[in-house]
Amino acid sequence: MINDEILVIANDEKILKMKDYIQHGKINTYDHCVNVTNTALSLAKKLKMSVDEDVLIKAGMLHDYYLYDWHDASIHKPLFQMHGYTHPAVACENAKRDFDIDEKVEKAIKTHMWPLTLRSVPTSKEAWLICLADKACALKETINR
Ligand SMILES: [Fe+2]
Ligand SMILES: [Fe+2]
Repeated sequence: MINDEILVIANDEKILKMKDYIQHGKINTYDHCVNVTNTALSLAKKLKMSVDEDVLIKAGMLHDYYLYDWHDASIHKPLFQMHGYTHPAVACENAKRDFDIDEKVEKAIKTHMWPLTLRSVPTSKEAWLICLADKACALKETINR
């Protein structure tokens, strides 16, 4: 389900390219990003947190904007060069290249894999929500495959 507020970015043709890549099981990266964005928005609502929804929506939709098939890309790579560690930085560079994003969105993208990326710790409410929503969605998508 796509929340009305994310329709604009969700229909961007560059964002739609994420439909070409599998994230977990049968879920493509685009659907995963929609799930993460909706989960982060509803978590904020449930917890009655005042958040910048624009940051949540951009960071949610762009947090995995790395645009490659990670199943191929992780083969024969040393541990710290594997997808799990490197894709937040790749997604952030792609997002900066293709969209107008501020520093808060950049940091939320770069820190969404914490604690795997030890030193990249979320520093805003929005970044923590994306980090939590990403884990909840990844678990749900993997179990439901
Ligand atoms: Fe990710
Ligand atoms: Fe993700």
